[in-house]
Amino acid sequence: MLQIPDHIASITPYQPGKPMAELERELGLTGVIKLASNENPVGPSPKAVAALRRALDAGQLNRYPDGGGYYLKQALSARWGLPENQFILGNGSNEIIEFLCRTFLQPGDEVVAADLTFVVYKLITTAAGGTLKTVPLKNHTHDLDAMAEAVGPRTKMVFVCNPNNPTGTYNSEAQVQRMLARLPDDVIVVFDEAYAEYVQATDYPDTLAMLAARPNTVILRTFSKVYGLPALRIGYGMTSPELVDAMNRVRQPFNANDLAQEAALAALADDDHVTHSIQVNEEGKRTLAELFDSLSLNYLPTQANFIYFNVGMDGGPVFQECLKQGLILRHIHGDWIRVTVGLPHELARLAQVLPDVLRLLRS
Ligand SMILES: Cc1ncc(COP(=O)(O)O)c(C=O)c1O
Repeated sequence: MLQIPDHIASITPYQPGKPMAELERELGLTGVIKLASNENPVGPSPKAVAALRRALDAGQLNRYPDGGGYYLKQALSARWGLPENQFILGNGSNEIIEFLCRTFLQPGDEVVAADLTFVVYKLITTAAGGTLKTVPLKNHTHDLDAMAEAVGPRTKMVFVCNPNNPTGTYNSEAQVQRMLARLPDDVIVVFDEAYAEYVQATDYPDTLAMLAARPNTVILRTFSKVYGLPALRIGYGMTSPELVDAMNRVRQPFNANDLAQEAALAALADDDHVTHSIQVNEEGKRTLAELFDSLSLNYLPTQANFIYFNVGMDGGPVFQECLKQGLILRHIHGDWIRVTVGLPHELARLAQVLPDVLRLLRS
């Protein structure tokens, strides 16, 4: 009889959503709008798409990708002013979370994270035999003082999701500095900055400067959000050469595929696409704020491309009713729902559907 280890059996598998075409078939609808996964509604950079076409036409699919990510690391190095040996590429930034846990955790080690944050930290910590110690959010924001307090002799790593998914809140430079001052140097601090490009706050932390002063610091970035390339799965980590070297020992040689590297390289150089995407996001944030204000719904100011809002009743049925109307949101817990900032016509649809759904459920 196959024995699944207890720590693996304890994991709740991530529930993938159905393919859109299947959902539309089941609902008997067309034109379903998905505002559930914090994707860039603008789409990918046209330059990235052109680079993909060129790469396909070059007929290289029969060759393995560049396992060292030579050109992409070179471009990232120029972008951030950090030597190439301080970068590691991942099959999405999720894979780098996996490298971190598989490289640095031993069974029984602890990882500290917020109690309402990106679910993957818990999943991968548990899979690696570690224990996630969660610290409640304070005002829907990481409580970095309490997180520093939670660090004990078995703590190997602390995850700071900044801005936080799903709340969209952020921690300032001063808050992060205060936490770092209290942490032992050998604890790895991971700043997950998947949404950093969208941030408008002027006191957002300069984590690269922190990395320069503190080698056990990791910064995670991705091409899945503002760069609009989640389908290709590519992200990167920036850290000290020592940590990169350690993680390279568990990394498979060809983990970042060739098409992803080509597209990422082109996307990184397309500042216009990023600027336009941020503009669309800012306009969408204003539209959503007006909608929530008009419905007297509570919502949090966001630094990302999604908004966490309170529907004043169980969010489960609200999610379900919106789904029946062809609008996919994400119910987080209790009264709280997360919506990705969409394009104007997508948000107009939300403005049509949500008031009706709330009226129906209140009656
Ligand atoms: C906070 C956070 N980190 C990382 C990711 C995953 O990014 P990737 O697609 O690069 O694996 C997400 C995606 O939703 C996220 O919200």
